[in-house]
Amino acid sequence: MRKIEISTAAIIYKDVSELSTEDKMLMRKAVEAREKAYAPYSKFSVGAALLLENNEIVLGNNQENAAYPSGMCAERVAIWRAGSEFPSVKILKLAITASSSIHKVDKPAGPCGACRQALSEYEVKQKQHFPILFMGEVGEIVKTESLSSLLPFSFDSSYL
Ligand code: THU
Repeated sequence: MRKIEISTAAIIYKDVSELSTEDKMLMRKAVEAREKAYAPYSKFSVGAALLLENNEIVLGNNQENAAYPSGMCAERVAIWRAGSEFPSVKILKLAITASSSIHKVDKPAGPCGACRQALSEYEVKQKQHFPILFMGEVGEIVKTESLSSLLPFSFDSSYL
């Protein structure tokens, strides 16, 4: 038997003013996407912006459904859009932001487990990590250098 410890690393920024010019721009795009979310049931809007190697920015937001499980998260809308429109272009960075019309989201809202798995597929596919930044509507931003920092022991095609 052996015990291992897995640690993860992230940078925490106090607010958007501390971000680099590129990160600020991408987060602004995520906010634009968030503002167009379709979230009439949860009132919780999420926006995601992907920066691609060809300089395209691909946006996604959550799309809810009266049959609740038929809705989809912002991150997966964005990653599948990028995967379908630009299948061979690498993803360089992802920014995510969340807000609610019921309360102020003032802590960083990380991608859900299913989105982490979906995002992980694309890191493996492109053989290159990409940083992920996430925040609420205001306040701190978390930046990880890679999706693998958020999803240890992830499942990938090597098991198939
Ligand atoms: N949501 C996302 O878009 N991304 C996440 O990572 C977490 C949750 C959406 C799904 C649903 O429309 C709303 O937020 C509340 O769960």
